[in-house]
Amino acid sequence: MTAMLEIVDLSAGYGEVRVLDAVSLDVARGSITALVGSNGAGKTTLMRTVAGLLPANEGGILFGGTDLAGAPPHERVGCGLSLVPEGRLIFPAFSVEENLRIGATAFHARPRLAARIEEMYALFPILKQRRRQQGGTLSGGEQQMLAIARGLMSCPRLLLLDEPSLGLAPAVAQSLFETIVRIRSTGVTVFVVEQDIRSTLEIADSAYVLENGRIVMADTAAELLQDPQVRQAYLGL
Ligand SMILES: Nc1ncnc2c1ncn2[C@@H]1O[C@H](COP(=O)(O)OP(=O)(O)O)[C@@H](O)[C@H]1O
Ligand SMILES: [Mg+2]
Repeated sequence: MTAMLEIVDLSAGYGEVRVLDAVSLDVARGSITALVGSNGAGKTTLMRTVAGLLPANEGGILFGGTDLAGAPPHERVGCGLSLVPEGRLIFPAFSVEENLRIGATAFHARPRLAARIEEMYALFPILKQRRRQQGGTLSGGEQQMLAIARGLMSCPRLLLLDEPSLGLAPAVAQSLFETIVRIRSTGVTVFVVEQDIRSTLEIADSAYVLENGRIVMADTAAELLQDPQVRQAYLGL
């Protein structure tokens, strides 16, 4: 498989504070690739840098072989990259359907707007039932579905998910991980960062472990699930 996303020796942070230290990783086309790590490891910082919301200090980000250096966020969306941010950030006063329309601001998605909304309702039937309801009145799991559907409205080739299971009850989180597998089956490559390491490794193809801004392990998800160090440090086994 060829890489959809290649991150090479990436360093980034906030002003003088360096968070990511020479991070290199590949996201294979058609895969679910996971980046797992504890709170504060730098996962969100990496996602924001890939989306163009934070500048890289050093290193490169290649998307489909094209260097994204200096490309503003909307241009990256136009190239087929979409971030579902940590904390969902849906518009609580807008209806479900209005939230979806906002997700289609990438110009290439606009002609297919109505059809795309129907595709999202097929993927997330609960959102169709709630289409006129204000986003803020949805349950946590439904809000996460809405955030993901909004991210998919721009027809991305690569979907970046930042902690999609955060704050969800275990059963709801489980159905969310199943949703991620469904999204991959529609041909979208998924790069997910998570603190729920076990559930994430169970659905991912390959995975990286981030500690203090550095990649400390990289392998297939199945191998990492069996790894004694991972089991002890992250799975409490
Ligand atoms: N806006 C910011 N300004 C300064 N430091 C930040 C900012 N956001 C995050 N950090 C710091 O960067 C580190 C990594 O944070 P983050 O990427 O959010 O980690 P994670 O998503 O893995 O929990 C933390 O030490 C955090 O305090
Ligand atoms: Mg985070």
